Amino acid sequence: MKKARIIGTGSYLPERVLTNLDIEKMVDTSNEWIKARTGIEERRIAAENETTSDLATKAAIAAMDMAGVKAEEIDFIVVGTITGDYPWPATACLVQQKLGASRAVAYDISAACSGFVFALDAAVKQIQTGAARKALVIGSEILSRIIDWTDRNTCVLFGDGAGAVVLEAAEGPNGILSTHLRSDGTYWELLYQAGFGARNPASVEGIEQHLPFLKMQGNEVFKVAVRMLSEVAQEALTANEIEIGDLDFFIPHQANRRILEAVAKRLKLRADQVYINVQSYGNTSGASIPIALDEANRAGRIEEGDLLMFDAFGGGFTWGAALVRW
Ligand code: UT7
Repeated sequence: MKKARIIGTGSYLPERVLTNLDIEKMVDTSNEWIKARTGIEERRIAAENETTSDLATKAAIAAMDMAGVKAEEIDFIVVGTITGDYPWPATACLVQQKLGASRAVAYDISAACSGFVFALDAAVKQIQTGAARKALVIGSEILSRIIDWTDRNTCVLFGDGAGAVVLEAAEGPNGILSTHLRSDGTYWELLYQAGFGARNPASVEGIEQHLPFLKMQGNEVFKVAVRMLSEVAQEALTANEIEIGDLDFFIPHQANRRILEAVAKRLKLRADQVYINVQSYGNTSGASIPIALDEANRAGRIEEGDLLMFDAFGGGFTWGAALVRW
């Protein structure tokens, strides 16, 4: 079977920076609390006229430029997002239009913070089966639009941004070695958005009850996240007969520095293997892994033959890992 290989990465972060000191003025919190409990120092907030497909398109163009791939060559576009421009159509279709990628099949994946890893899995399978030769995998989110800015439990955590990769069918040993996805719907109420969908259609009362905003039982999510992120990472290593010490980069979903440190400890990862940028962007949900990947790649830190692992966890619950030979 053919391998899917990453031949370009891109990302886009909105210009506006919201610091912890700014949030101190909005809710009863402190820079010290946020830094100590999450590692976050600042996050980006999309401009009023920016949408999730705008962010996604900019990240995609950067990835396509790096790959030297034109829009007409793309067969498949998949966007991991829970903050699409509209409930429907898919944000991926809007990205397709903006890029002029007229040949592509385009759809979204709703797997919350695991969105990029789930989208990557879908694209890898398109390539492995021969349905696509070149694919665009994007994680793009404007979480700031579904955050309750009066809820200190959640508003300090999230940020906006987008990341993308171009995949190409390739021969040889390098590429995505395997993907491992998991879900457990029994946990859905620990992290979700109550309105406005079919369960709670749009209503004035719903707005008064803050239904259109993200709700999370943070400390419950924390415990499950640490366990599942560790388990699925181990599963990916075992499936490929790779030792944890052989990884060059462990690029996890950037939820909270303490979660990442707990996972690193469980897996016995060295600090130099773990890529963390949560301090700069907060939790950008499905966008966090491709943003981190692009940052490391453009800094020239990833070399051909390096072994990378992506590891994500999010609402649903959903979680998953991917192992990559660069
Ligand atoms: O992206 C994937 C899904 N999301 C996650 O992975 C997030 C997972 N959870 C977390 O990152 C952490 O649970 C949080 C950062 C959300 C919270 O940290 P925690 O250490 O679990 O704190 P807690 O929720 O147990 O709250 C401890 C205290 C509470 O006060 P009391 O009840 O002990 O008096 C909270 O009210 O901290 C309080 N608190 C705050 N204080 C100041 C909660 N948020 C804040 C805040 N500023 N922003």
